[in-house]
Amino acid sequence: MIIAIDGPAAAGKGTLAERLAAHYGLPYLDTGLLYRAIGRRMADAGADLDDPAAAGAFARALAPEHLGGDLRGREAGDLASRVAVHPPVREALVAFQRAFAARPGGAVLDGRDIGTVICPDADVKLYVTASAEVRARRRTDELLAKGRAVDYDRILAEVRERDARDSGRVVAPLRPADDAVVIDTSDLDRDGAFAAACAAVDARR
Ligand code: C5P
Repeated sequence: MIIAIDGPAAAGKGTLAERLAAHYGLPYLDTGLLYRAIGRRMADAGADLDDPAAAGAFARALAPEHLGGDLRGREAGDLASRVAVHPPVREALVAFQRAFAARPGGAVLDGRDIGTVICPDADVKLYVTASAEVRARRRTDELLAKGRAVDYDRILAEVRERDARDSGRVVAPLRPADDAVVIDTSDLDRDGAFAAACAAVDARR
């Protein structure tokens, strides 16, 4: 069983994907990490993130050991969305993601184009979303809980900017697949989102 999960930044996809993977006993691939690692490595090397050919070369050179370290932060997310617009980057990552999805027994993958491009034949497609305000509020609270000084308005602007870049790009833009089950987590807590996702999975099994 292949479960494809897409949606905008900070909608709760990652948490949900991990929980579904544990619940159904499937391996999980956070595909955002691939784009984050490429963006991070290019920035560290002083390379031009807006150069499609250079970004493609970094994508083709990506190796498992590049996926460790601190890639979860906002800066890496922003770098990721800049390199993710380039077709050579996306092409370089297709085979790895499809091979992961083709594991015996299946897999859970989350990202922006899993249901539309990477796994168009996935058994279950979920599109996890929430209003930009709710996502910015959650991210702000997460950072505050870590003792970081953050400004909600700035986070909201970042969320909107990333949405615009991910949805507006020409190649593999963020959008729900036609057959995706949309889960809006604006008014759902984690357990509510998990229950909605399990209901969608169980209905298609
Ligand atoms: O999901 P995450 O926030 O880690 O993704 C970081 C960025 O990587 C996204 O904003 C998006 O631009 C890009 N991405 C993508 N396709 C994916 C996963 C991530 O374009 N499948």
